[in-house]
Amino acid sequence: MNGEQALGTAEMDALRAHIKALEEINEGLRQSFEELTALYRLSETMATARTLARVLALLLDLSHDMVPYRAAALLLFHETTKKFSLRLQRGLDAPVEARIQAQTMEGVLFWALEQGRPVVLPGKPGDPPAGDGDRTFVVVPLVARGKSIGLLHLTVDREEGAFTQRDLSFLSVLANQASVAIENARLYETIQSDSREVVRALGRAAAAHDSSAQRMAERMAACVTLLAEALKLPPEEAEVVKNAALLHDIGMLGVPEAVLEKPGKLSPEEIRLVRTHCALGADLVGGICSLTPLVPLVLHHHERWDGTGYPAGLKGPEIPRGARLIALADAFEKMTSERPYRLALSRNLALDEIQKESGRQFDPEVVEAFLKVLPHLAAARAGEEAASS
Ligand SMILES: [Fe+2]
Repeated sequence: MNGEQALGTAEMDALRAHIKALEEINEGLRQSFEELTALYRLSETMATARTLARVLALLLDLSHDMVPYRAAALLLFHETTKKFSLRLQRGLDAPVEARIQAQTMEGVLFWALEQGRPVVLPGKPGDPPAGDGDRTFVVVPLVARGKSIGLLHLTVDREEGAFTQRDLSFLSVLANQASVAIENARLYETIQSDSREVVRALGRAAAAHDSSAQRMAERMAACVTLLAEALKLPPEEAEVVKNAALLHDIGMLGVPEAVLEKPGKLSPEEIRLVRTHCALGADLVGGICSLTPLVPLVLHHHERWDGTGYPAGLKGPEIPRGARLIALADAFEKMTSERPYRLALSRNLALDEIQKESGRQFDPEVVEAFLKVLPHLAAARAGEEAASS
């Protein structure tokens, strides 16, 4: 006699029903776990995504994890023009793109935008066939802080009724989180672009009386960008170093012209005045909120690796890394440019000088990186010289 025979038919049915219910609960738990994992991934990764391109790519990746689609389009809505623009797409063939265009023309997408929740649109009888089965469009509005900012448009090879409430709720949560991230990324990019404008405007103002100063600052910015790349600095830090290189001497605006233009040797008091340009520049840059990360670099760009620099006499790694890059680029630029009191050094002589100062004036690691980037720097200079001749 086996176990099954020991139970009556009614008990067996009840047991089977019980097992089925347990399997369903299990499946539900598995799906919930997958969704929670995906949402955790979303909030974790969205928080670190600074650029709009990265946020949009993540949104498409995570949507595909939960609702596998054949094609996806991300449309951003522009409040001023009341139009959509296609910002990112995957698998969008000509017929699907035409369908999206038609949906825009018919006002369907505007209607979907107003719904504030995902809507499922069946493919029309006239739509081109989608492989073996039916085609459905899922349109998810992106709403941030009560404002419609765009749509996630998915083309899914499923029947209209095959979407569960769970699919749509997941897409809704995903869209809400992504919308906030999109707004933050846009804000961040606006701040970045404003900062670049401010840096450019300040740089131009600082070099208004001396066009060669601006050219030198731009060359230094190119040099520190190459150094930052060679030293594998994170992109945000590289941007700060580049901007600081453009503005490192802005404090010279506060140094009397008579001192700056004096042809002969400077007196100790005049040297003291020139040296105030680091603190003056740091004060000026620190007054602009988005430029505060530049302050330590502007302040310490005349420190020396051996601690004999100014204004603070910082030594070795105490000197902010960006300031060490600027110090080397500044020295190289000054050595290879013609000055009122001496001719420019050749690139090789300047390089010898820099190598001699490794571990004294300069960070040895930065010198090493400089040796690697010098050929690129020389090529850029040659191009610049050819263009100006
Ligand atoms: Fe300086």
